Amino acid sequence: MSRTPLLAGNWKMHGTRSEAVALARALAAAIGSVAGREVAVAPPFTALEAVAGALAGSGIGLAAQNVHWEPKGAFTGEVSAAMLREAGCTHVIVGHSERRQYFGETDATVAKRLGAALAGGLIPIACVGETLAEREAGETAAVIARQVAAVLAGAGAGIARCVLAYEPVWAIGTGRTATPAQAEEVHAAIRRQVAGTAGEAVAAGLRILYGGSVKPDNIDALMAEADIDGALVGGASLEAAAFARIVRYRG
Ligand code: PGA
Repeated sequence: MSRTPLLAGNWKMHGTRSEAVALARALAAAIGSVAGREVAVAPPFTALEAVAGALAGSGIGLAAQNVHWEPKGAFTGEVSAAMLREAGCTHVIVGHSERRQYFGETDATVAKRLGAALAGGLIPIACVGETLAEREAGETAAVIARQVAAVLAGAGAGIARCVLAYEPVWAIGTGRTATPAQAEEVHAAIRRQVAGTAGEAVAAGLRILYGGSVKPDNIDALMAEADIDGALVGGASLEAAAFARIVRYRG
């Protein structure tokens, strides 16, 4: 089963509106047209609409970094799927480890956000990943299985429209990438788990991205693994040339 790779840039809390537009223009120019892969970027909320304009006609998708599960209401600081769609979003990241670590995101809230994203016509990029302490305690498989089970519960049959991202917390922003073999082991386990719940065909079509210190010099080896279907890139996505090289990986 061939899966179109997705290379997504997570800009996190980087970029005023004008900075984000400049980066989007530079990226669109550096990437040009690439066949056989999808590209998306996730600027901060305040820059979404302006970046949508800057990316028009480029083929690069637009992702938000979070979404609330209710369509509207008294939820100060939150943003709904319809608001994101209107701003031009095609995708939304849910359950990023920084949300889980610093903002109280849990498996239950991730599942609710995921359901709202799907219902609102957005493609969720659902993140899972273990901490260093969990890895060192030999708990990686159990932690990932628990997080993936929540993703499956939140998505239901919509899992076929989701993208998953395995992002070991100890590899994010640390320069310490998982080795291709370490990542592949987890990716293959995630795919087996999805097959068990949603069936072989859905699992075979599901894209599972790797994230955590992805750079131009390690993307090729990561993409050579059978179950790695793209990357969620933080730091290196803020530099047009670096992200363009990642998009043009040689797997
Ligand atoms: P990084 O971030 O590439 O800077 O490690 C990845 C992510 O958090 O998605």
